[in-house]
Amino acid sequence: MTTFASFISDNAEWFYLIGAVLFILTLRGLSSPRSAIQGNRYGMIAMAIAVATTFFVAEGPVLWMIIGAMVLGAVVGIYKAKTVAMTQMPETVALMHSLVGLAAVAIALATVLNSNMMHSSLAQFELFVGCFIGAITFSASVFAFGKLAAKKWAKTLKGGWVKPVQGILFVAMMGFGIAYFLTGNLTAFYIMTVLAVIFGWMWIAPIGGGDMPVVVSLLNSFSGWAAAGIGFTLGNTMLIIAGSLVGSSGAILSYIMCKAMNRSLLNVLFGGIATAGAASEEDEGPKNYRSGSADDAGFLMANASSVIIVPGYGMAQGRAQNAVKELYELLKEEEVNVRFAIHPVAGRMPGHMNVLLAEADVPYEDILEMDEINSDFAGTDVVLVIGANDVVNPSAKDDPNSPIYGMPILEASRAQTVMVVKRSMSTGYAGLDNKLFYMDKTMMIFGDAKKVVEDMIKAVSGSGH
Ligand code: TAP
Repeated sequence: MTTFASFISDNAEWFYLIGAVLFILTLRGLSSPRSAIQGNRYGMIAMAIAVATTFFVAEGPVLWMIIGAMVLGAVVGIYKAKTVAMTQMPETVALMHSLVGLAAVAIALATVLNSNMMHSSLAQFELFVGCFIGAITFSASVFAFGKLAAKKWAKTLKGGWVKPVQGILFVAMMGFGIAYFLTGNLTAFYIMTVLAVIFGWMWIAPIGGGDMPVVVSLLNSFSGWAAAGIGFTLGNTMLIIAGSLVGSSGAILSYIMCKAMNRSLLNVLFGGIATAGAASEEDEGPKNYRSGSADDAGFLMANASSVIIVPGYGMAQGRAQNAVKELYELLKEEEVNVRFAIHPVAGRMPGHMNVLLAEADVPYEDILEMDEINSDFAGTDVVLVIGANDVVNPSAKDDPNSPIYGMPILEASRAQTVMVVKRSMSTGYAGLDNKLFYMDKTMMIFGDAKKVVEDMIKAVSGSGH
């Protein structure tokens, strides 16, 4: 046993390298729903190797502390995983990021306090940067959690005083951090840490609730960099590589989300609250739209040769995904070519629609991303829009005054017939009216997504084909 243990600890760097390669394969796997399960498996193996290797490297008393903390963490984690509702995922993720930030701060403090360790200038630099990134990640993530969970204490900050205070806090935090780096003064280190915690809160508090998903993905990136910082402090290559992977993939995801919403990251982070842009809409007086019943819609779809379903936030809100899957299957039985078109920011979190459709077991080959399917709308008989609004708004393409102008959309308006399921004529997230709803080819079907789709299922089953 002892020889086995010393074999592992002597070759720890090799095991860490294998773990790191598996983490890279994990990310590669996660890039497509088809390979995501395999990707997850690689991730689990990599994590098991990393944890097991650390056990053999760690010494007696520390080992027991690690085991104790892991058991405690596992109990809380398993309980949370079993009880959390799908709709609470974004806030849960935010809370988990806060723990990574807190871990970075705790490790930096422990290292600073360890009088047995000599701190070179490089180590002091790592400690200073790792600690303030961790502290900002911690408080910003706690606030993001509160905001997403609609907690009373997570109030959005407004007013002209916010930006100057943010600026002063940031400069002071950096000043004390640099003072520690140059002199090794511990008081400066502690003050920097406290200021970073306050800055993290003040930085996120003015950001509007709708931009929180971008913020959460950015904090995910921060938590990765904080972990990489811990890796440098502890001299642990595995942590440096895994942290950098999380850091860079989170940054890329934030960039993709901003691009798909036609916003710049700087605008989200420092532009204050995202305002609904209804002001730019011209008041054109009453407009006409056509409405129909679920029966009409069912009949039309059963007689079509091709149907594209565009799900949006309303499908999630109405928990209609299982009914939608049933409708999809029925139409397939009627030999209709049915596919799903997914916009990158449909819903309220990255991959929202993909997760719901995967949960309902819709085959991946019929779930297509915007770039893959956009050119097919023109040759399609029926587009069924279920609780989507902004992601099919033609103003994004043809109205330069629209606040969403420039955002890529699903070109539903190019199909022969468009059917839109929603409860009223009210707007979506961006607060904008949608020309698609007033087109001659469009039929509005009013009602809750689940109820309407269930009625459509009855109509298609009774259509006598
Ligand atoms: P939205 O534009 O928000 O429209 C959703 C529509 O669903 C609403 O117009 C609403 O109309 C309808 N609806 C709500 N509950 C319903 C229910 N139970 N049954 C039937 N319909 C229901 O959604 P979208 O098209 O998915 O676009 C997403 C928007 O969110 C974009 O503007 C995007 O930029 C923004 N956003 C996305 C993300 C991510 S990462 N996905 C993050 C932040 C913001 P009624 O009230 O009339 O029913």
